[in-house]
Amino acid sequence: MKTLQGKHIVLGISGGIAAYKSAYLLRALIKRGAEVQVVMTPSGKEFITPATLSALSGKPVVSEFFSANTGEWHSHVDLGLWADLMVIAPATANTIGKMANGIADNMLVTTYLSAKEQVMVAPAMDLDMWKHPSTQRNVETLRKDGVIIIEPEAGELASGLTGKGRMEEPEAIARRIELFFEKSQSLRGKRVVVTAGPTYENIDPVRFIGNYSSGKMGFAIAEEFSARGAEVTVVAGPVSIKLQNPAIRRIDVVSAKEMYGACMSLAGDSDCMVLAAAVADYAPAVVSDKKIKRELAEDMCIRLVRNPDIAASLGKEKNGTLLVGFALETDKEEENAIAKLKRKNLDWIVLNSMRDPEAGFMKDTNKVTVISAAGDKKAFPAKSKRDVARDIVDIVSVDLTK
Ligand code: PMT
Repeated sequence: MKTLQGKHIVLGISGGIAAYKSAYLLRALIKRGAEVQVVMTPSGKEFITPATLSALSGKPVVSEFFSANTGEWHSHVDLGLWADLMVIAPATANTIGKMANGIADNMLVTTYLSAKEQVMVAPAMDLDMWKHPSTQRNVETLRKDGVIIIEPEAGELASGLTGKGRMEEPEAIARRIELFFEKSQSLRGKRVVVTAGPTYENIDPVRFIGNYSSGKMGFAIAEEFSARGAEVTVVAGPVSIKLQNPAIRRIDVVSAKEMYGACMSLAGDSDCMVLAAAVADYAPAVVSDKKIKRELAEDMCIRLVRNPDIAASLGKEKNGTLLVGFALETDKEEENAIAKLKRKNLDWIVLNSMRDPEAGFMKDTNKVTVISAAGDKKAFPAKSKRDVARDIVDIVSVDLTK
């Protein structure tokens, strides 16, 4: 079946013995109906000839910035705009290192830096190179940058050694690509709202009560929903990070009251709302319109009044909207999370604990347990927030697409 009909794929090939497998991968993609543009590094050409690849793809292979015959400039920017997906297979330690560090000294890594589409990388190298801390660091950097890593397999390597480092088989990579495109359409037509970041509750024109939320978790969830075709609105508290996907609508708010107003007005039109924001439970009862002077008093009391609970209000008026809350806990984690899930009438709650060093505010990683109203529970190991977002959206999608 032509499962990749109409899809534009850039296939990047760097210089490793596994480059011979790229011909099989290319054939598997073409057979599935994809249009494939091969981009090679200079050393990739030492392992497999561009003539083979251009015959299979029906397109000249791109490997230099300028064509040797015509002097024509090959635009890496145009390739980035044309492609629906970029797959680098095999990716050597050298290419991965360049990608992780923004080095742009050949056509392949330059195309990567211009890529607007999802990028997948299938590493292939000797086992000691794969295990080396610098390779692992670079792979982790790519993961944080949103690149999907197709883990190498364990087995016999070209060096004669046995271990992890063999590129995944071409048919398995082609299947991963099919699944990626299936997923990218799976939430088309669904409207999703995600809250992210902190709220600031003003004391006077220069001071506020706030918290350390960076917005990273909420933004990663928004990006993931959007990558699967959902129409996403983010209601963001004051954060300095930016959304990558221009298709995501962003409403900026400052206080809990403003976040409440934005969420309530979006609720009726939403299939799912994910409440990842760290909302202040209380705000000063009176906000001074002038900066409060230090010399006024020896000590001072700021009276706080309760903010609206956005999650609980949405839970009360829920009309088919799937509600996913978060619980940030410091003790009796599960007990408190389940109590919040019930009190706020949520469908799911995502528990993260401040006691886990890899979880919570500002970090690039999180460690979560997702609990459903029906009592299902799934605990995940620590992962990048991007991967945590994938896990959460995988779970929620099952109910969203029923
Ligand atoms: O932004 P990052 O730096 O990436 O950090 C991510 C995070 C730690 C902020 C995130 O993973 C998280 O746990 N967010 C929820 C934090 C929180 O405020 O939890 P809570 O247990 O106090 O609130 C429970 C739920 O009720 C949350 O879904 C919250 O958004 C919601 N709530 C809380 C208070 C309130 N007035 N209105 C609400 O809707």
